[in-house]
Amino acid sequence: MQIRVLGSAAGGGFPQWNCNCLNCSGVRQGSINAQMRTQSSIIIGNGSPDWALINASPDVLTQIKQTPVLQPARQMRDSGIAAVVLMDAQVDHVTGLMMLRERNSPLPIYATQQVFDDLTTGLPLVKTLSHYCTVDQRLIRPDQENFSIPELAGIAFKPITLSSKAPPYSPHRHDPHPGDNIGLLVTDVASGKKAFYAPGLGMIEPQVEQAMREADVLLVDGTFWTDDEMISMGLSSKRAIDMGHLAQSGPGGMIEALASYSTKRRILIHINNTNPILREDSPQALQLKALGIEVAYDGMHIEI
Ligand code: MLT
Ligand code: MN
Ligand code: ZN
Repeated sequence: MQIRVLGSAAGGGFPQWNCNCLNCSGVRQGSINAQMRTQSSIIIGNGSPDWALINASPDVLTQIKQTPVLQPARQMRDSGIAAVVLMDAQVDHVTGLMMLRERNSPLPIYATQQVFDDLTTGLPLVKTLSHYCTVDQRLIRPDQENFSIPELAGIAFKPITLSSKAPPYSPHRHDPHPGDNIGLLVTDVASGKKAFYAPGLGMIEPQVEQAMREADVLLVDGTFWTDDEMISMGLSSKRAIDMGHLAQSGPGGMIEALASYSTKRRILIHINNTNPILREDSPQALQLKALGIEVAYDGMHIEI
């Protein structure tokens, strides 16, 4: 199984278009040791030209250009994106669907009922796409065991319900339901090796712990270093946890949660532009390095 990180940043990307924080202005000017990053998305493949796109970021066209395997060119109009799997209905995970509208067959999208509902009402992308390529809706039940994608033999996907946040335009924003946000435990059936992917993770619940135990590689929420990061920078009144993200540092934080899995490959992904770990020589980045925790970057390859 192959995983490629198309976009390793949280919503807004890095730098964010309107942000002049130390990180954003520094990366723009080249005055800090950091790399630009596009918004959250990965692809999963089995070695064939067909891939599953996990979340469709607003940066998807740039990401496709940067990823030649997504253009196999088997016919005049073609794509390596065989299907899309959505973790939630957040803007930074779904608006790239609009950019795939020129597809010449219905676009297979795997999502929960809640996500399809939000994408038919609050942000009606599925309705809009019905005027273009149309959507082949493939339902994920949040409590189901593995599902497979017929276009992607040999890989099994298990949804893991996550406590995170439905988007602001969802009726579930302050009334969470299982299926608003999922993670994926992805298995290479031949080798039995697994990866756990959870870009938005607010709480390490028992089903998450179980998935982390089973997985060989963990790709988890790296949005914020501190819970009050946006507040202390004067950028928002919301804590990380109010946005459905478990901060890395501090008691009960992601670093502590990852400590029990030090033999596994542990990668932080969906990194917000305010996060000090983006500066490769920051004390926070060096702390992660010392712990053996990786920070995802655009173009990162993971072979499992
Ligand atoms: C989040 O996961 O909190 C998002 O990145 C916010 C957004 O872009 O809407
Ligand atoms: Mn996000
Ligand atoms: Zn910024």
